[in-house]
Amino acid sequence: MNRIAIYPGSFDPPTRGHEDLIRRCLALADRVIVAVAENVAKEPLFTVPERVALLETIVDEMPFVTIESFRGLLADFARERNASVVVRGLRAAGDFEYELQMALMNRQLNPALETVFLAPANHLTYVSSTLVREVAMFGGDVSQLVHPAVGEALADRFGS
Ligand code: PNS
Repeated sequence: MNRIAIYPGSFDPPTRGHEDLIRRCLALADRVIVAVAENVAKEPLFTVPERVALLETIVDEMPFVTIESFRGLLADFARERNASVVVRGLRAAGDFEYELQMALMNRQLNPALETVFLAPANHLTYVSSTLVREVAMFGGDVSQLVHPAVGEALADRFGS
Protein backbone atom coordinates (compact mmCIF):
# COMPACT_ATOMS: atom_id res chain seq x y z
CA MET A 1 0.00 0.00 0.00
CA ASN A 2 1.20 3.49 -0.76
CA ARG A 3 -0.85 5.82 1.39
CA ILE A 4 -0.25 9.49 0.69
CA ALA A 5 -1.14 12.17 3.22
CA ILE A 6 -1.31 15.87 2.50
CA TYR A 7 -0.47 18.34 5.24
CA PRO A 8 -1.69 21.70 3.90
CA GLY A 9 -1.33 25.17 5.31
CA SER A 10 0.02 28.66 4.97
CA PHE A 11 3.26 27.98 6.89
CA ASP A 12 4.03 31.70 7.16
CA PRO A 13 6.43 30.89 8.72
CA PRO A 14 6.75 27.17 9.47
CA THR A 15 7.05 26.56 13.23
CA ARG A 16 8.26 23.75 15.46
CA GLY A 17 4.56 22.89 15.79
CA HIS A 18 4.33 22.25 12.03
CA GLU A 19 7.54 20.24 12.17
CA ASP A 20 6.11 18.09 14.97
CA LEU A 21 2.94 17.48 12.93
CA ILE A 22 4.92 16.49 9.82
CA ARG A 23 6.69 13.80 11.87
CA ARG A 24 3.36 12.58 13.25
CA CYS A 25 1.92 12.33 9.72
CA LEU A 26 4.48 9.65 8.97
CA ALA A 27 2.73 7.36 11.47
CA LEU A 28 -0.36 7.49 9.24
CA ALA A 29 1.03 7.45 5.73
CA ASP A 30 3.85 6.11 3.60
CA ARG A 31 4.42 9.48 2.03
CA VAL A 32 3.64 13.01 3.19
CA ILE A 33 3.21 16.01 0.94
CA VAL A 34 3.50 19.28 2.83
CA ALA A 35 1.42 21.62 0.68
CA VAL A 36 1.83 25.39 0.86
CA ALA A 37 -1.36 27.11 -0.30
CA GLU A 38 -0.72 29.88 -2.83
CA ASN A 39 -4.04 31.62 -2.83
CA VAL A 40 -4.82 32.25 0.80
CA ALA A 41 -6.25 35.76 1.20
CA LYS A 42 -3.66 37.05 3.64
CA GLU A 43 -0.82 39.54 3.53
CA PRO A 44 2.09 37.08 3.77
CA LEU A 45 5.41 37.74 5.50
CA PHE A 46 7.27 35.24 3.30
CA THR A 47 6.60 34.48 -0.37
CA VAL A 48 5.45 30.99 -1.29
CA PRO A 49 8.90 30.06 -2.75
CA GLU A 50 10.53 31.31 0.49
CA ARG A 51 8.18 29.19 2.59
CA VAL A 52 8.78 26.15 0.37
CA ALA A 53 12.55 26.64 0.73
CA LEU A 54 12.30 26.92 4.53
CA LEU A 55 10.18 23.76 4.71
CA GLU A 56 12.66 21.95 2.46
CA THR A 57 15.43 22.80 4.91
CA ILE A 58 13.29 21.61 7.82
CA VAL A 59 12.48 18.21 6.23
CA ASP A 60 15.94 17.76 4.76
CA GLU A 61 16.55 14.63 6.84
CA MET A 62 12.99 13.32 6.83
CA PRO A 63 12.56 10.56 4.28
CA PHE A 64 9.18 10.22 2.54
CA VAL A 65 8.32 13.90 2.98
CA THR A 66 8.12 16.30 0.04
CA ILE A 67 7.22 19.96 -0.16
CA GLU A 68 4.97 21.43 -2.82
CA SER A 69 2.87 24.51 -3.32
CA PHE A 70 -0.61 24.45 -4.80
CA ARG A 71 -3.11 26.84 -6.31
CA GLY A 72 -6.86 26.39 -6.17
CA LEU A 73 -8.78 23.87 -4.13
CA LEU A 74 -7.07 21.48 -1.75
CA ALA A 75 -9.64 18.83 -2.67
CA ASP A 76 -8.51 18.99 -6.33
CA PHE A 77 -4.81 19.00 -5.45
CA ALA A 78 -5.34 15.91 -3.26
CA ARG A 79 -7.08 14.14 -6.15
CA GLU A 80 -4.22 15.03 -8.54
CA ARG A 81 -1.68 13.63 -6.11
CA ASN A 82 -3.70 10.48 -5.26
CA ALA A 83 -3.73 11.46 -1.61
CA SER A 84 -6.30 9.74 0.61
CA VAL A 85 -5.79 11.73 3.80
CA VAL A 86 -5.57 15.40 4.73
CA VAL A 87 -3.91 16.07 8.06
CA ARG A 88 -4.59 19.17 10.13
CA GLY A 89 -3.29 20.03 13.57
CA LEU A 90 -5.71 20.86 16.38
CA ARG A 91 -4.09 22.93 19.09
CA ALA A 92 -7.13 23.91 21.10
CA ALA A 93 -10.91 23.72 21.11
CA GLY A 94 -11.03 27.10 19.39
CA ASP A 95 -9.53 25.58 16.24
CA PHE A 96 -12.24 22.98 15.95
CA GLU A 97 -15.19 24.79 14.42
CA TYR A 98 -13.31 26.12 11.40
CA GLU A 99 -11.45 22.85 10.96
CA LEU A 100 -14.66 20.81 11.00
CA GLN A 101 -16.23 23.11 8.40
CA MET A 102 -13.17 22.73 6.16
CA ALA A 103 -13.14 18.95 6.60
CA LEU A 104 -16.81 18.67 5.66
CA MET A 105 -16.41 21.00 2.67
CA ASN A 106 -13.39 19.04 1.46
CA ARG A 107 -15.37 15.81 1.79
CA GLN A 108 -18.19 17.36 -0.21
CA LEU A 109 -15.68 18.30 -2.93
CA ASN A 110 -13.73 15.05 -2.82
CA PRO A 111 -15.59 12.16 -1.11
CA ALA A 112 -12.52 9.91 -1.30
CA LEU A 113 -10.56 12.26 0.94
CA GLU A 114 -10.59 11.83 4.71
CA THR A 115 -9.46 14.54 7.11
CA VAL A 116 -7.54 13.49 10.19
CA PHE A 117 -6.82 15.83 13.11
CA LEU A 118 -3.63 15.39 15.06
CA ALA A 119 -2.67 16.96 18.37
CA PRO A 120 0.79 18.50 18.50
CA ALA A 121 3.25 17.80 21.30
CA ASN A 122 1.99 19.34 24.56
CA HIS A 123 4.76 21.90 24.79
CA LEU A 124 3.94 23.23 21.31
CA THR A 125 0.18 23.67 21.64
CA TYR A 126 0.48 27.44 22.09
CA VAL A 127 2.73 27.97 19.07
CA SER A 128 1.21 29.57 15.97
CA SER A 129 2.71 31.30 12.94
CA THR A 130 0.77 34.44 13.82
CA LEU A 131 2.28 34.68 17.30
CA VAL A 132 5.76 33.78 16.06
CA ARG A 133 5.54 36.60 13.46
CA GLU A 134 4.39 39.09 16.07
CA VAL A 135 7.00 38.16 18.68
CA ALA A 136 9.77 38.23 16.06
CA MET A 137 8.56 41.57 14.71
CA PHE A 138 9.03 43.15 18.14
CA GLY A 139 12.43 41.54 18.65
CA GLY A 140 11.33 38.74 21.00
CA ASP A 141 13.17 35.43 21.19
CA VAL A 142 11.53 32.76 19.02
CA SER A 143 14.50 30.41 18.91
CA GLN A 144 12.64 27.69 20.83
CA LEU A 145 9.63 27.94 18.54
CA VAL A 146 11.15 27.70 15.06
CA HIS A 147 13.92 25.89 13.18
CA PRO A 148 17.18 27.91 13.10
CA ALA A 149 16.72 28.55 9.35
CA VAL A 150 13.34 30.14 10.08
CA GLY A 151 14.86 32.13 12.96
CA GLU A 152 17.46 33.52 10.55
CA ALA A 153 14.85 34.36 7.92
CA LEU A 154 12.78 36.20 10.55
CA ALA A 155 15.83 38.08 11.80
CA ASP A 156 16.64 39.09 8.20
CA ARG A 157 13.09 40.20 7.57
CA PHE A 158 12.82 42.26 10.72
CA GLY A 159 16.42 43.43 10.73
CA SER A 160 17.20 42.14 14.24
O1 PNS B 1 -2.46 27.33 7.75
P1 PNS B 1 -3.85 27.72 7.39
O2 PNS B 1 -3.87 29.15 6.86
O3 PNS B 1 -4.84 27.50 8.50
O4 PNS B 1 -4.30 26.75 6.17
C1 PNS B 1 -5.54 26.89 5.55
C2 PNS B 1 -5.55 26.09 4.22
C3 PNS B 1 -4.43 26.56 3.32
C4 PNS B 1 -5.38 24.62 4.51
C5 PNS B 1 -6.94 26.33 3.54
O5 PNS B 1 -7.15 27.70 3.41
C6 PNS B 1 -7.00 25.68 2.15
O6 PNS B 1 -7.12 24.49 2.04
N1 PNS B 1 -6.89 26.53 1.09
C7 PNS B 1 -6.91 26.07 -0.28
C8 PNS B 1 -8.21 26.51 -0.97
C9 PNS B 1 -9.35 25.61 -0.57
O7 PNS B 1 -9.36 24.42 -0.85
N2 PNS B 1 -10.35 26.21 0.10
C10 PNS B 1 -11.51 25.50 0.59
C11 PNS B 1 -11.21 24.83 1.91
S1 PNS B 1 -12.59 23.97 2.49
